[in-house]
Parts: sequence; C-alpha cells; structure tokens
Amino acid sequence: MSTPVAPSGETTSTSDRIKSLESEFLLQNYARYPVVMHRGRGCYLYDVDGKRYLDLISGIGVNALGYAHPRMTKVMREQAGLLLHTSNLYFHEYQGALAERLARISGLRRTFFCNSGAEGMEGALKMIRSHGTKIQPDKYEVISLDNSFHGRTTGALAITGQPKYRKDFEPLLPGVRFVPMNDIAALEQTCSERTAGIVIEWIQGEGGVFPMSAEYAAKARELADRYDALLVFDEIQCGVGRPGTYFAYQLADPVILPDIMVAAKPLACGVPLGVLVSNEKAAASIAPGMHGSTFGGGPLACRLALEFLDILDGLLPSIRAHGAYFRSKLQDLARRHSYIREVRGEGLMIGVQLDIPGKQMVNDALADGLLINCTHDTVLRFLPPYIITEREIDIAIKKLAKIFKKW
Ligand SMILES: Cc1ncc(COP(=O)(O)O)c(C=O)c1O
Repeated sequence: MSTPVAPSGETTSTSDRIKSLESEFLLQNYARYPVVMHRGRGCYLYDVDGKRYLDLISGIGVNALGYAHPRMTKVMREQAGLLLHTSNLYFHEYQGALAERLARISGLRRTFFCNSGAEGMEGALKMIRSHGTKIQPDKYEVISLDNSFHGRTTGALAITGQPKYRKDFEPLLPGVRFVPMNDIAALEQTCSERTAGIVIEWIQGEGGVFPMSAEYAAKARELADRYDALLVFDEIQCGVGRPGTYFAYQLADPVILPDIMVAAKPLACGVPLGVLVSNEKAAASIAPGMHGSTFGGGPLACRLALEFLDILDGLLPSIRAHGAYFRSKLQDLARRHSYIREVRGEGLMIGVQLDIPGKQMVNDALADGLLINCTHDTVLRFLPPYIITEREIDIAIKKLAKIFKKW
C-alpha cells in the first residue's frame, strides 16, 4: 500500500492515517485492535500492510464461509447488476423462497425479515407484548436469563442479563425478570399468569459459551404452554449451522420447538440480514401495519442467504467433525496448563475457560497472525468459519500452544 505524505511533510502509513481519521470523526464506542483489514480469502484476512491472519472469530460469527467464497461472490456480482433494494412495498423473487427454506429447516412457518440480531429481538419483544396484552392488560412480563446478551437496542438491552450493558440507559422496558440459567426451580417460581414471554439463548455466546440443558429448555417450553406465554430462542450467535445443526435447539432429542426463533449473523455471510421465524400462534400477534423494516429482506441479502443455505446443507457434518477435532486438541492443551479450567461448546462455537485474564493472549495471537476473542475477561471464544480445515486447526493449535506456554 502507498505511504501518503501528511500536510506537515512527514510520511504517515495508510494504517496510521485511517486510525487518526477514525479517532477524529467516529463516535468513540469501539475499542479496536490496532490493525486495518484490507481483504480476505478462505479463512484468512490480510491487513493493509499485507500481513496474513488466520481468522477464528469470523467477524463475531458472521463470515461463515470465510472470505471471497466463489459462489457467494458470483451471486453478489449478478444480483448487484439486477436489483439491490425494493423496499417492502413490492414483492421480489427471493423473500418467499427464503422463508420457505427457513420453514423447512426450522420447523417454524412464518418469517419476518430485518437487518440485525437486535432488530429481530425487537420484533420478538413486540410479538410478546402484543400476544400478552391481548389476553390481559397486565400480561407483559418477560423472563430472561442472567448473563444473556440479546443486543444493543433499548428493547434488546432490557432483556440482556448483564447489568454492565444496561446501567447507563435505565430505566428500560419494565416487566423484565431475570433468572439464572439452568435453574429449573427459579424459572418455575418466576413464571406466572403475567408472563408473556420467555427468552433464551441456547448457547450463551457473549456470556462465555455456556450451553443450556435440554431439561431446562423442556421446562421453559412446558411453562410457556402452561401460562400461554411465547417461548423465544435467540439463535443469533449459536444458530444457522454453527453448532453443527441448523439451529442449536435441534441439538436436543426430541427437538424442543420455540414459538419464535431469531437468527442473524451468518445468514447472508456478511451482508446484513436478520430473521424472526415464528409459528402460527405467535404470528397471529402481528396484524398488517404493526411492524416493518425498510431494508429488511432485500433481494441481495435474501439471495445470498439462499445460496449460503444450499452450501450449508453439505457443511453440517464437517462443522460437527471439525468442532470435535478442535475441542479435542484444545483439551490436550488444557491438560498441559492448569490455568485452563474447561473447554466447552458445540460444533464450531467453542469457549476455553481460563483462571486468568485472556486479553494479553488475544494480543499475542494477533501479533502471531491469529484472530481470536476473549469474552468476560477469562473466556477465550472461537467462532471460526464453517469451512475451516483440520490443517488450519492444527496451525491455530500450534500458535495457541506457543501462547499458552508463556503463562
Ligand atoms: C445472542 C445474541 N443476540 C443478539 C445479538 C445482537 O445482534 P446484532 O449485533 O446483529 O444486533 C448478538 C450479537 O452479538 C448475540 O450474540
């Protein structure tokens, strides 16, 4: 990349110039790592200086097919020359087809398209409210889990079970009650005729990769039925193939169906797309005019999602196999380092619980060309692309072994 000359006559690197522009003109809400990414191919990202990084976080679970996947690139090119946006005033060719595909893989029938996870959760909250208050005016309570994460909009924040995200914006939506995950008695005690919805992440992602027990989910289903509340599964991070099934709730046998499922991140592999998929009962809570989204479900995003789901059908077995391989290699490392307490997760959603902070390990990995993430100070989180190979996992493990040795 070129090295421009600053007005002072000093030379500044492209990367420094980009960082300085951002610090001057962007809202300072992100703490970015000091690299400027330029392009990607497969599981690798390249920065503006040409340095290569093996990506095990995939844009926080979005880049499921890695970078520049030939089939996705082809569809994107074709659709860009045809039609990008119609608004929801008109039909286009891809929403119905994608909704049908989602119905087939989810077991739920009716889709609403939006642009992000949080927007999907807002839709779910409106359905919960509308469903509950039609039954009785004080039926608006939502039960959510401690340590959960559902997004940054005010509704999604209100049901996010981590005070650090909520505290600066209170008071938020009233009627939210938090319960500990996998505590069946607490859930049972908190549910009542006032409960309009129960919201659950099958595997808590941002919270540190904590899977929910099938017994707990079954109890949530039973209680939602008993009190005529809507059961919502947030599959934004843990769904759409990442656990090795289409959705994490399909890991349970028999499958426990929610009334509403929200998914987003990997669906269009980098082009924003969120979905709320519901059964007929939940869908009845929204009449014409009650909800909408200008950009939701545009032709480009929907066509990309259809292409992605075609590819995903063939990838599910390798997601399970590579996930198991990666976890077993991490467990080998855990046996060598007593500060690694646990390796957990499903498919290619993996958390490594440490007894010590993981921040410096993420920095060390970055310096060594490996992208990982740390959540809740002590959990290393891995959300690699679904196309990762055993060879790439071996490369990552080698780098991690070197990093772990320093502690
Ligand atoms: C489980 C979960 N729900 C909701 C969200 C919010 O999604 P978005 O950032 O697309 O609004 C996230 C984002 O990380 C998430 O992990």
